[in-house]
Amino acid sequence: MRSLFSIVLLMVLGSALAYKSYSGYQVLKSAPLTAASMPYINRLSKHFDFWGTPGVGRPATVMVSPEQAPLVVAAFNRMRISHEVLIPDLGPEVERERLEREALEVAHSMKPREAVYDRYMSCQEIHHYMRDLSAAYPEIATGIIFANGTEGHKVKGIKISNGNVGQKALWFDCAIHAREWITPPVCLRIIDEVIADPALRDLADWYILPVANPDGYNYSITTDRFWRKTRSPNPDPDCPGTDPNRNFDFLWDAGNPTDYCSEVYPGTNAFSEPEVSGIGNFILDIADSLVLYVAIHSYGEQILYPYGHTVEPVPNVDQLIAAGTASADAIAAVAGTTYTVENSASGLYFTYGASDDFAYGRGAVQYAYTYELSGGGSAGFDPPASLIQPVVDEVWPGIKALVDYVLAN
Ligand code: ARG
Ligand code: ZN
Repeated sequence: MRSLFSIVLLMVLGSALAYKSYSGYQVLKSAPLTAASMPYINRLSKHFDFWGTPGVGRPATVMVSPEQAPLVVAAFNRMRISHEVLIPDLGPEVERERLEREALEVAHSMKPREAVYDRYMSCQEIHHYMRDLSAAYPEIATGIIFANGTEGHKVKGIKISNGNVGQKALWFDCAIHAREWITPPVCLRIIDEVIADPALRDLADWYILPVANPDGYNYSITTDRFWRKTRSPNPDPDCPGTDPNRNFDFLWDAGNPTDYCSEVYPGTNAFSEPEVSGIGNFILDIADSLVLYVAIHSYGEQILYPYGHTVEPVPNVDQLIAAGTASADAIAAVAGTTYTVENSASGLYFTYGASDDFAYGRGAVQYAYTYELSGGGSAGFDPPASLIQPVVDEVWPGIKALVDYVLAN
């Protein structure tokens, strides 16, 4: 009895110790950025964890450790950008969120064939849900494994189709950045809608990948809430992981090749990450039928279109804007949330090797977008579970409007 007690005690202590503490970490918020400061912000973003997408006219939010805080404050001061402390101590915020999630997990017993929208599901639950769907509806739902992460978690999505040959194809991926927990529920909602409605399956074949970075997503639940990258090892053992959304094989840029600790470290070469090459090669494989590529991220309330490396308009920019605006209007009609439709680099924050630019730039698709959903709470990446449902309820009509526009044009 006593040994059982001590085993349980050890497990409780062990799991508490396993979490990365954010005690003393702060989130700083700047005044709206100027164009003159952007080259500097672009450089700083390689070394510090900027949340959301910094850009001209928008405030930057940056998470800093106690050691980093004075460096970032000094940098803002040098640029003459005023700033405030948005969150003085992230530690209690992260702890509160973890306790909320664990309490909800215990309160629910997961029923098969059901996605839930009142708490954040684990990757395993999401995978089991898709497995149950393809077992229950073998004629229309097929599981697809795109890759295995370096830590072994499967990059698993689903194809939903009426089975007719020659249909157009639509692609949606979520949570390629591990900490963006609000995104998988949107992919799950798309799955639920397409499973429920044969008319949607007559429009096109739907490819949906709810957790594009499962190693990282898992790690952000078990260990480090703000983990963003993959989990592949780097020469610096303290800084594993590559930013998968800088690792696609289109205008890939090595940057400073030893910046392993950067949150936007692009990897040793394009497609170094199995998740990324698995997804990217599949996109090329279905290019003949693909008409829409959508990557779902958080946060920023933006619908971004290519490219991320230049503000030069792409040839079909008018159509990209028109489709994006139709989507934004449908989102706004639900509860008044305003999404802006923007070129990815219009804020003068430049990126290379992102998935949307890859799909568009390699000629696989004419309509490619990144959706930046709403943030939540004060901490941006962790909307309380009560916000999942309202976000999903407003974004699905936006996705539907986008799909309708693209298929009609
Ligand atoms: N927040 C996303 C990222 O940093 C935005 C990507 C948008 N697309 C782009 N090509 N920049 O990866
Ligand atoms: Zn992201």
